[in-house]
Amino acid sequence: MSQATTQNPLTPLRKADEPIPYTGESYSPFFYGKNSMMVDKISGSVRIFTNTNSYLPTHTMAETLILPTSTNRKEIYATLLPQVKALIEDETDLTANLANVAAVLKQAFGFFWVGFYLKKENQLVLGPFQGPIACTRIDFDKGVCGHCYTTRATVLVPDVEEFPGHIACSSASRSEIVVPLFKNEEVVAVLDVDSDQLNDFDETDRQGLEKMMQLLQDKF
Ligand code: SME
Repeated sequence: MSQATTQNPLTPLRKADEPIPYTGESYSPFFYGKNSMMVDKISGSVRIFTNTNSYLPTHTMAETLILPTSTNRKEIYATLLPQVKALIEDETDLTANLANVAAVLKQAFGFFWVGFYLKKENQLVLGPFQGPIACTRIDFDKGVCGHCYTTRATVLVPDVEEFPGHIACSSASRSEIVVPLFKNEEVVAVLDVDSDQLNDFDETDRQGLEKMMQLLQDKF
């Protein structure tokens, strides 16, 4: 009987940086520049291998977002964070990085609208986003985004109709979370995420999104 062996193309020549529970059954490996990553199908743990030139496959794979089968948001954020880190690590272009982070959040959670407003002179100006068209400029004293900018803190809005001064870019938006991005202790942008469900955001989102925004602060 012929021995059909399945050779995992990413059998690491280098050990992962830290031991992670690993069942041996992975999604296909994927690559960001010199880095590669596998996500364990069962535990959802992510293994990142750096400087993988020595065992790059003969084909080049498109960048792929790996999501756990779990619908638990905490687990999804835990899986996304190392992937976002790897995705933006070697890219210095701000627009490219913000665009990909917006796409990651849209793809992973299916939120109604995900995007950035960037501080430009005395306003917040629309940056990379995913979703329907949106208002382009927000004054610092207007809307949830302006409130986030001036208070320098994440704003959770369970029901947008209850938030005084909420700017309705779409009538479909029901709840919202806005997270500040800091550079040298200045707010340089805000991440705005809108849901078409009431009360769709909680502390898990606050923590996951704040951690994700910290990854971006060196990119400004
Ligand atoms: N609702 C935001 C405006 C931006 S849109 O939701 C994309 C606000 O009140 O600041």
